[in-house]
Amino acid sequence: MIYRRLLRPTLFTVAGRDAEAIHERVLGMLARISASPAMTQALARLAAITWPGDLGREREVFGLRFPQPIGLAAGFDKNARAVHALAALGFGFVEVGTITQQAQPGNPRPRLFRIPSDDALINRMGFNNDGANAIAKRLARTREFPVPVGISLGKSKLTPLEDAIADYLASLDRLYPWADYFAVNVSSPNTPELRALQERERLDALLEVLQARLRERALLADEQIKPLLVKVAPDLDDAALDDVVGVCLAREASGLIAVNTTVSRYGLSAAVPDALRNEPGGLSGRPLHARAVEVVSRLARRTGGRLPIIGCGGVFTVDDAQRMLDAGASLLQLYTSFIFEGPGIARLLARGLAKRENHMPLARP
Ligand SMILES: Cc1cc2nc3c(=O)[nH]c(=O)nc-3n(C[C@H](O)[C@H](O)[C@H](O)COP(=O)(O)O)c2cc1C
Repeated sequence: MIYRRLLRPTLFTVAGRDAEAIHERVLGMLARISASPAMTQALARLAAITWPGDLGREREVFGLRFPQPIGLAAGFDKNARAVHALAALGFGFVEVGTITQQAQPGNPRPRLFRIPSDDALINRMGFNNDGANAIAKRLARTREFPVPVGISLGKSKLTPLEDAIADYLASLDRLYPWADYFAVNVSSPNTPELRALQERERLDALLEVLQARLRERALLADEQIKPLLVKVAPDLDDAALDDVVGVCLAREASGLIAVNTTVSRYGLSAAVPDALRNEPGGLSGRPLHARAVEVVSRLARRTGGRLPIIGCGGVFTVDDAQRMLDAGASLLQLYTSFIFEGPGIARLLARGLAKRENHMPLARP
């Protein structure tokens, strides 16, 4: 409430006519907090006072233990600078990236657009990130993370599609020690041709190589194989979603993340001016929610529960979160509601879900 009434209007108007500039400022602040154990602890204490409550029971999904099911989706902390502060705000896990093998600037600005009337964003960032090597060096200097961290991998823009596998593999190798899980991002609309990697043969070839490398590295290190998840686009039709599921099952992927942003503008209200509606890029937030739930539900039915799903897309309220879980998700992620609802959103949703869980009658044997 305080965020929506006081802080957000300031961020969105006075300080933040440029949506990306304010994003960078907030991220910079979270990165500085992350760098200091004392400041991280102070933030965790403050967050617990501001948004108190039981965040719920720990759960195990694809072999990892999650303190609560609400995570931060990829794209917020592209360079893995702010994980400790994000965990202090109550996120049960954080997916960093998307990271590409080569450092790249992304698309020209402006490339991030707010649609406050609809609680939505359009972005065409284009995988701006420091590159696998620089991020690996940063991670090597960072203290251990308190929550599971996923590393999202993408294709460098300059790498042709035929060489995509080598590109993903190089990033995986460079970042391997710091990932609790890897997410294969083949669904961003903002890198030309990337989504072609969701096609059956291409995805199969990509997963075959990445899985082989993960097995090899696990054997060498005498540890569990790190989970590999595939993130899908909401714009795939049922047949294409079924293909993705088939490949993931055949290649023993650990799970799916559904969904990335959409190129459709379905769900946006008529009040949104055409100039904004027609900005190229991916739409996220409330208008995406219904389709995201539909995709999760389809994937859950097709996998028959054999592949855990991280549900993502327009989760703003406890009801939204519950809807995703009911559709078959095991964990949830959010991005856009963090921008619109503020720093308390992870705790608020986790606590809301925990309360419902506690009031559920216990299943009888
Ligand atoms: C500004 C912005 C940047 C994003 N960057 C990435 C990214 O690098 N990799 C990725 O897999 N998803 C990225 N996403 C998509 C989100 O992870 C998420 O799938 C999508 O926004 C839907 O969730 P939401 O409605 O809760 O935002 C980005 C989203 C936004 C808004």
